[in-house]
Amino acid sequence: MVAKKPRIVIIGAGMAGLTAANKLYTSASSKDLFELCVVEGGNRIGGRINTSEFGGDRIEMGATWIHGIGGSPVHKIAQQINSLESEQPWECMDGFLDEPKTIVEGGFELNPSLVESISTLFKNLMDFAQGKLIESSENTEGVDFYKLAAKDYKTCKSNGVVFGKLSVGAFLRQGLDAYWDSTKEEEEKMKGQGNWSRKLLEEANFAMHENVQRTYTSAGDLLTLDFGAESEYQMFPGRKVARIEWQPEAQQSMENGYANGPVKLHFCDGSVMCADHVVVTVSLGVLKAGIGEDSGMFSPPLPSFKTEAISRLGYGVVNKLFLQLSSNHAGKDEDCNKFPFLQMAFHRADSELRHKKIPWWMRRTASICPIYKNSSVLLSWFAGKEAVELESLSDEEIINGVSATISSFLQAPQKQVNGNSHEFCKWSVGGSNGNEVKFSKVLKSKWGNDPLFLGSYSYIAVGSSGDDMDSLAEPLPAKIGNYETAGCPPLQILFAGEATHRNHYSTTHGAYLSGLREANRILQHYHCIGV
Ligand SMILES: *[C@@H]1O[C@H](CO)[C@@H](O)[C@H](O)[C@H]1NC(C)=O
Ligand SMILES: *[C@@H]1O[C@H](CO)[C@@H](O)[C@H](O)[C@H]1NC(C)=O
Ligand SMILES: *[C@@H]1O[C@H](CO)[C@@H](O)[C@H](O)[C@H]1NC(C)=O
Repeated sequence: MVAKKPRIVIIGAGMAGLTAANKLYTSASSKDLFELCVVEGGNRIGGRINTSEFGGDRIEMGATWIHGIGGSPVHKIAQQINSLESEQPWECMDGFLDEPKTIVEGGFELNPSLVESISTLFKNLMDFAQGKLIESSENTEGVDFYKLAAKDYKTCKSNGVVFGKLSVGAFLRQGLDAYWDSTKEEEEKMKGQGNWSRKLLEEANFAMHENVQRTYTSAGDLLTLDFGAESEYQMFPGRKVARIEWQPEAQQSMENGYANGPVKLHFCDGSVMCADHVVVTVSLGVLKAGIGEDSGMFSPPLPSFKTEAISRLGYGVVNKLFLQLSSNHAGKDEDCNKFPFLQMAFHRADSELRHKKIPWWMRRTASICPIYKNSSVLLSWFAGKEAVELESLSDEEIINGVSATISSFLQAPQKQVNGNSHEFCKWSVGGSNGNEVKFSKVLKSKWGNDPLFLGSYSYIAVGSSGDDMDSLAEPLPAKIGNYETAGCPPLQILFAGEATHRNHYSTTHGAYLSGLREANRILQHYHCIGV
C-alpha cells in the first residue's frame, strides 16, 4: 500500500492559522509527514492584524497591542525579529495620500481631464492584462483600446500558442497607440500646451504610470514582463469556505479508508477539497453566523455543546477611527501647535449641559489624541453600537461629528481644575480664535460588517464562562464512545483562534497559543496512532 500523506487544511491565515501551519511545517518530527494547506477567504494574510498606513504614519487597523510582556510569545517573537526597534513613522510619506498634482518636467501642471483619461486608460489596460476586466464589459472608458491592444494576444491564444509572445510593456503601448488613433482629430485641434504637444504630455503621463507598474512588478522594463502570465498571477486569491462537510459517525479515519479524507470543504467558487483534518480558525462572529438556521456552514450541524457555547459567548465590535489634522494651525506657542491628548467626560443623557451638536455615536468615546506626540494623525476608539454606526457614516458626517465634539471641548478657555486656574490652548472649528481644527482625511476600520470577521474579538458574556471557550476548543467528532476507548480521537475538525483560549482570549498571543495547541494535538495524534 502506498502511504498517503494525511492532508491538513487550515481555514484562515490569521495568527492562529499561520501559527498552526508553521508549527506543523517546522516540527522536526513531522518533516514531510503531512500535506498542508492554508486557505484564506480574504485577499491578504494577517486576519484581524492589519498594519496600514495613513497620513504618512504607520497605523494598525486591527490588533494594536502586545498584551503583556513577560511570558508573551508574541513579544518574544517581536524581540527576536527586531520589530520592537522600528517604531518610527512610516518612511516620511506625509502627504503621499493627498490628491496628487501631476506636474511634468519643467513645471507644467497637467490639466486634470488629461490626467484622468490617461489614468483610466492605463488602469483599464492593466486590469485587462491581469484578467480583471471581462471582455464583455461595456461602457468602460478605454475599453476599445485594450481590445485592440489585445489583438495579438488573442491570436496566439487561438493558435494554441498560449503565452510568451506579448509583453505587458508592448501591450500597454499598443493600447496607447490605439487610443491615439481614436483621438487624432482632437489632437489636431489642441496643438499642445506650452512647449509640449498634447501627445507628448499624454505620453509623459502614461510613462509615469508605467513607472509605478515597474515598482509593483520589479520588472525593470515592462517589455520583459510576460503578458500571458500577468493574468495568471494572482494576488492572494481569496478562497472562501462555504460549507464544511464532516462525518460524525466515522470511526478511525485512517483505517476506514476515506480515500480523500473524511472532511469535505466546499468553497464559494464551487470547488471542493478533501482533508483528513481541518483546523477552523475563523472568528467567533463567523461561527455565530455559521450556526444560524439558514447558514449551514457545517454539515451535519455542530453538536449542541458546541452551538450552545458559540451562542453564549460574547463577540463585540471595536473600531478605530483615524483623522488627519490639517497643519495650518495658527497658534504661536509651540505646545499649542500640538493637538492634546484629549480625554472626554460627557454629561449624562438627562443633563441640560449637553451640547446638542455632539452626535450620539461620539458620546461614548473616551479620548481623541495624536497617535504619537508629534503626529498629525488623531485616533479614537469606538465600541458596540457606536462602532457599528461609525462603519455606516460618510467621511463628512464623521468629520462634522468629531469637529463639533472637539469644539465643545476645546473652544472655550478651560479654568478651575481643583481650585487651580488652568488654561488650555484654544482650538476652534472654523473659527478665528486659537488653533483651527480641520481634518483633511478619515480612515476607519470596519470589522463589524466585514463578512470574514463580523466583529472584533470575543469576551465572556454574562451567562457564559471560560468553560464555553474550552468547549469551543474541543475537536470533533466529540470524544465519546469508542473514540475514547480507542484512545485516538479522529480529529476531523479542530478549532483555534483567540475565542478558543480560555485565559488569553481576545489577544494575538491567545490566537498564537491556540494555533500551537491544535498543531500539537495533530502531532500527538500521529504519535498516538504510531505513524
Ligand atoms: C486593512 O486596512 C486597509 C487600510 O489600509 C483597509 O483598506 C482594509 O479594508 C483593511 N482590511 C480589513 C480586513 O479590515
Ligand atoms: C518653451 O521653452 C523655452 C526654452 O525651454 C522657453 O524659453 C519658452 O518660454 C517656452 N515656451 C512656452 C510657451 O512655454
Ligand atoms: C517633536 O517635535 C519637537 C518640536 O516640535 C521636536 O523637538 C522633537 O524632536 C520631535 N520629536 C520627534 C520624536 O520627532
